[in-house]
Amino acid sequence: MTGAEKVRAGPLNIFILASTNKNMAIQIAKLTPKYIKQTHELLHKIIRHHKCYSEHACKYWEHFYTPAKLRGDLNDAQWIMLIAKDNNNVVGFTNVYKIMGGVAQCDWCIVNPNYSGHGIGHALTKALFKECRKAGCHKIETDSRINNAAGISLLKATGWQKVSLLKRHWFGQDYFLWEKFL
Ligand SMILES: CC(C)(COP(=O)(O)OP(=O)(O)OC[C@H]1O[C@@H](n2cnc3c(N)ncnc32)[C@H](O)[C@@H]1OP(=O)(O)O)[C@@H](O)C(=O)NCCC(=O)NCCS
Repeated sequence: MTGAEKVRAGPLNIFILASTNKNMAIQIAKLTPKYIKQTHELLHKIIRHHKCYSEHACKYWEHFYTPAKLRGDLNDAQWIMLIAKDNNNVVGFTNVYKIMGGVAQCDWCIVNPNYSGHGIGHALTKALFKECRKAGCHKIETDSRINNAAGISLLKATGWQKVSLLKRHWFGQDYFLWEKFL
């Protein structure tokens, strides 16, 4: 794990991030109703100004992920959303939006820029693999914009394999397709 020491505690994973000036105990947990508002705000803050996505794509995602949708998704067994918390502040999340035939489809991994580079994306991704295994998945897939350097670094660092180039994919933009056997 990037600059972090992992300590297990009950159902939550607690990651003590030792690479910062003051150590942070980051908890990875499943999303609960209490944290929907913060998760939604983080998602929108990052997506709205994301340089890798077209304006059309950003607008689409902003309208797609509403608090009501996240609340509804909590009741969907084929859906997983994990959040990273610094005390009661949501500082990152990752999600699987569909599981079919043992394959989990991962959508986003987002970390608050004030917390990036300390292993939180890595910790979220590894915790997501574990949840997918628990759900009976043998594989997880995702895609990334071809120019998303941070996203691609995270995928490589957590063992994903690039499968192919998807030309003119979501919203007409080029993507890489990635897979990871669990
Ligand atoms: C991608 C993202 C989730 C990474 O989160 P993070 O907590 O900063 O990542 P980590 O600290 O766990 O680092 C994971 C790997 O990515 C690398 N990385 C992190 N930020 C990077 C950056 N800006 N540029 C290049 N590589 C970067 C790290 O060096 C590390 O690789 P290593 O283990 O080989 O050293 C975060 O940058 C983010 O939220 N980006 C905006 C949303 C996004 O594009 N998500 C990906 C597509 S869904």
